[in-house]
Amino acid sequence: MNPDEIRSTFFDFFGDRGHLLLPPSSVVSSDDSLLFTNAGMNQFRPYYLGERPPPHRRLMSSQPCVRTVDIDNIGYTTRHSTSFEMLGNFAFSDYFKLESMSWALKLLTDGFGLDRDRLWVTVFSTDDESFVLWQKLGFPTDRIQRLGIEDNYWSMGVPGPGGPNSELFYDRGPSFGRSGGPSVNSERYLELWNLVFMQDVRGNSDEEILGPLPGRHVDTGLGLSRLQLVLSGGRHVQELDPLLPKVRELTGSSSPSVRIVVDHLRTSLLLLDAGVAPGNDGRSYVLRRLLRRAMRHLHLLGVTDPVLGQLIGHPLVSREERAFTRTLVRGQNILQRALDRGSLPVELVFKLHETHGFPVELTEEIARERGFKVDRAGFDTLMASHRSRS
Ligand code: SER
Repeated sequence: MNPDEIRSTFFDFFGDRGHLLLPPSSVVSSDDSLLFTNAGMNQFRPYYLGERPPPHRRLMSSQPCVRTVDIDNIGYTTRHSTSFEMLGNFAFSDYFKLESMSWALKLLTDGFGLDRDRLWVTVFSTDDESFVLWQKLGFPTDRIQRLGIEDNYWSMGVPGPGGPNSELFYDRGPSFGRSGGPSVNSERYLELWNLVFMQDVRGNSDEEILGPLPGRHVDTGLGLSRLQLVLSGGRHVQELDPLLPKVRELTGSSSPSVRIVVDHLRTSLLLLDAGVAPGNDGRSYVLRRLLRRAMRHLHLLGVTDPVLGQLIGHPLVSREERAFTRTLVRGQNILQRALDRGSLPVELVFKLHETHGFPVELTEEIARERGFKVDRAGFDTLMASHRSRS
C-alpha cells in the first residue's frame, strides 16, 4: 500500500465510526512550550484540558511531526526518524479503552491485513483494566507485556494532559534479532500504534500528576511509515523515501550515513516548507544542525561538492552549504589532529565552536565515534564566561 491508500483506509474506517476529519496543524508548533509539533494530539490540547469544547466528540487526523530526541539513533536503527506522519483517532469524553483497542486490532488485521499472530501489545504496569480487556478481545496472555512509566505513560513532555498507554507491535521475525516481545527487542517488535488513555493533568514530569482531567479521553497515533514498512516487508524506514535512491546513486554507498542524509534532508524540507530558515537559535538552529549533519555525512562518504541544495532544490540550503563547507573541512582537520594526538582539551572544543564556527554538537559526535568524550560542563562554563565578558 502507498501512503495515500493507507491514509484513506484509516479515514474510511474511523469515518464509518463517526470521526470528523480535521486538517493537520503546522509542524511549527503554535504552542510556545514546544519547538515543533510532536504528536497528532498537540492541536487538541485545549480540548483535553477542558479549556474549549472540541468541534466534535470524535476526531481523526494525519499529522506531520518532528522529534529530534533520537537523532543519534537515526541511520543505525531501522525504525527511527526525525520526522514522521502520524495517523490518529481521538475521543473526548466519549469511548475509552475497549473501543480504542478493538478498533486498532480490527483495522490492523482486517483493514491492513496484518497477521494477528504476529501482533504483540504492551500495557502500563499497573493498568490491569487494559490487560484484561486485551484478554477479552482474544489476545493471548503471553503476547501482552507490562511496561513502566518510561514506555507506557504518554504526555507531550511538558505540563498538560497525560495518561497511561497501550501499544501495538508487529513481530518482524528472527532476521531482526532475538525473540521475547517488545520488552526485550524494539527493532524486531516494531511499535506501530500507541493508544493513550488521557486522564491526568501532568505537572513538570510524568511522575508529577496534579489531578484528573475533566473527562476521560483518547489519543492514538499510528506511524504511517512504520506501517508501510511492515506492509512492504522493508527493513529501514528510510527505504520508503524517494530521496534514498538519489543519495545512494550520488554516494555509491548504502551505509548508515546515507540514511542519515535522507532523514535529515526530509525533515529539513518539512521545516523549510513550514517557513523555518536556518539560523542560530530555537527552531532555526535545529534546521541548521540537521543540514550540517547531513553535509558531514556526505563528506564522510566522499562527496565534498555542494550537492544538498541541488538534491532538494532549495536556495536557502545551497546558501547554508556554501557558508559551512570551509568551516566543516577546517574544523574536522583541527579536531582529527587533536584526536590523533590522543586528547581533547575543552579549550580546543570551545575555540572550534567560537572562533571557527564548528558546532560543539558536531565535535561531540565525531569525538564519540572515536571513543572520546567532550567535557560539556567545562564547555558550558567557558561559554558562560565568554558571554558575560562580551
Ligand atoms: N500522542 C501519542 C503519541 O504521540 C499517541 O498519539 O505517541
